[in-house]
Amino acid sequence: MKGVILAGGLGSRLQPCTLVTNKHLLPVYDKPMIYYPLQALINAGIDDILIVTGGHFAGDFLKLLGNGKDFGLRHLNYSYQEGEGGIADALSLAEYFAGDDSVCVILGDNIIEGNIRESADAFRKQGGGARILLKEVHDAERFGVAEVDHGRIVSIEEKPAKPKSNLAVTGIYFYDNTVFDFIRSIEPSVRGELEITDVNNLYVKRGNLYYDVLKGWWTDAGTFGSLQRATNLVAETGANLMSL
Ligand code: DAU
Repeated sequence: MKGVILAGGLGSRLQPCTLVTNKHLLPVYDKPMIYYPLQALINAGIDDILIVTGGHFAGDFLKLLGNGKDFGLRHLNYSYQEGEGGIADALSLAEYFAGDDSVCVILGDNIIEGNIRESADAFRKQGGGARILLKEVHDAERFGVAEVDHGRIVSIEEKPAKPKSNLAVTGIYFYDNTVFDFIRSIEPSVRGELEITDVNNLYVKRGNLYYDVLKGWWTDAGTFGSLQRATNLVAETGANLMSL
């Protein structure tokens, strides 16, 4: 399985900071944001990794990470997303990199305390389809929200005004190779983006979207509120970067 970190987008909710750098290079406590999803993949035993980024500061990822030597990697792959076409649009750029393989996708602003290795193993065993990680939250309307019935996901709604559960869809997804066909088949949403939620709902329709509820804390860091929360959580617990 290959790893993909999606670190494109304009980070408009973090302006003015993102006028002079990429959101994923901003500090979360004492490390740049991108370090956390990168380490999350490595901790799960996934070391063939593509970083998709975009915007004016894409070159700074190379300056910071190079070939990933500080993470024990020998090589890192990079791809460039033109514009801000959405998470699924950014993921479509990973098709060439993935080849016939499956992918573990993590959003560049998602930070976790624990390890996703068990979910990676469960995905390998499930024999195709997709697997996503959910987390109980108190502000579900900010996220994709899963409706679960008898252990199966029935539907996912993107930022619903009235969430059907408190289970947010985190930005960690395992997909088989059909994900790239699914992305080709979806249309931009009202906000003009190819939505990863639409992709996930295609797996729901096929009956092969599985899930785990993430252990340990999880946060995104795409707003000033969540960036501060992420910094506090990392400062208090060390997150998943203890070894660096
Ligand atoms: O954090 C989890 C949430 O992430 C999910 O619950 C939602 O279902 C999912 O849509 C997403 O919601 P956000 O509104 O928080 O996504 P955002 O636009 O902030 O993008 C999250 C990351 O995805 C961002 O840090 C980089 C990557 N991205 C995003 C866009 C729009 C790209 O690489 N390219 C893009 O064009």
